[in-house]
Amino acid sequence: MAKKTFLSGIQPTNIPHIGNYFGAVKNWVESQNTGEMESFYFLADLHAITVRQDPKLFKQQTLDCFALFLAMGLDPEKSALFVQSHVPEHSELAWILGCYAQFGELSRMTQFKEKGEKQKEGEVNVGLFSYPVLQAADILIYNADFVPVGKDQKQHLELARNIAQRFNSAHGETFKLPAPDIRKSTGKIMSLSEPAKKMSKSDSNANATVFVLDSRDTIIKKFKRAVTDSEALVEYREDDEAKAGINSLMSIYSAVTGKGFDEIKSEFAGKGYGDFKTAVGESVADILAPIQEKYTAIRNDNHFLEACMKQGAERASAKARPLLHEVREKIGFLQL
Ligand code: TRP
Repeated sequence: MAKKTFLSGIQPTNIPHIGNYFGAVKNWVESQNTGEMESFYFLADLHAITVRQDPKLFKQQTLDCFALFLAMGLDPEKSALFVQSHVPEHSELAWILGCYAQFGELSRMTQFKEKGEKQKEGEVNVGLFSYPVLQAADILIYNADFVPVGKDQKQHLELARNIAQRFNSAHGETFKLPAPDIRKSTGKIMSLSEPAKKMSKSDSNANATVFVLDSRDTIIKKFKRAVTDSEALVEYREDDEAKAGINSLMSIYSAVTGKGFDEIKSEFAGKGYGDFKTAVGESVADILAPIQEKYTAIRNDNHFLEACMKQGAERASAKARPLLHEVREKIGFLQL
């Protein structure tokens, strides 16, 4: 039986934070290592330019993120690990699929509406509008079965299914319809300063986000400043808004130590939040230390990085090319 295909992308803007690691990349590594699926992981640099990037910084960040992918355990021998713009099939299919997407449905995308509202009228570029079409191309070009996405991306996945269906009914079975991979994650990781909000790479509050490459001292300091509540009780209470901060810290501690919520509760019974926060900070710093060490070695080895990127791009392209050929054929393009 053919292996199922697993695919996900992340934008190479800024360094991933611990929510990206514990909520996404760590699971990818586990999935990759079971060898049950064929996996594709990429840095969505084409998506990133829907917002202006400083070219020099953008290059650095793409390298940083790629090196960090490797340091976090993604393995170019086991998975296709690549930079989106290195595989031109994505852009080509995106144009084609744009002709099977409707203006109305793209206008209704929540993310587009939200981003559009934040910007001045003259700043809403067409890339922002067709962003989900490119995402559909990313997914459909590899016949992906599972695409792990957060809630904010679910609508984009549904759009990919709709576009695929529309193409299939016009030209016959071509694309596989992807399913969102809603496997249980380790609980959502929230901003340390506003626990009602998801942790974000672009938070303006420097204490809100713990980045995977933060130093040990910084990590511990950020956790010490984390916003909690005044109850002084380390207890997980799912839908209790007042507990959002503690719930998130417990999720992190649980993800890092493998301890369950009850166990954590008894470990800190009768102790103050100070002890708990320090323990969470230290445990996170401990688990990130070997990743940071590997990262430094890889990031300083440009030859190795480049070789890995090439290997990934070739592997991805080899998988994408035949399907794109089929699409071109079905549309009626002359092929040379
Ligand atoms: N839009 C996604 C994000 O910002 C990144 C992304 C691009 C992606 N293409 C994808 C995720 C394909 C999953 C599948 O998080």
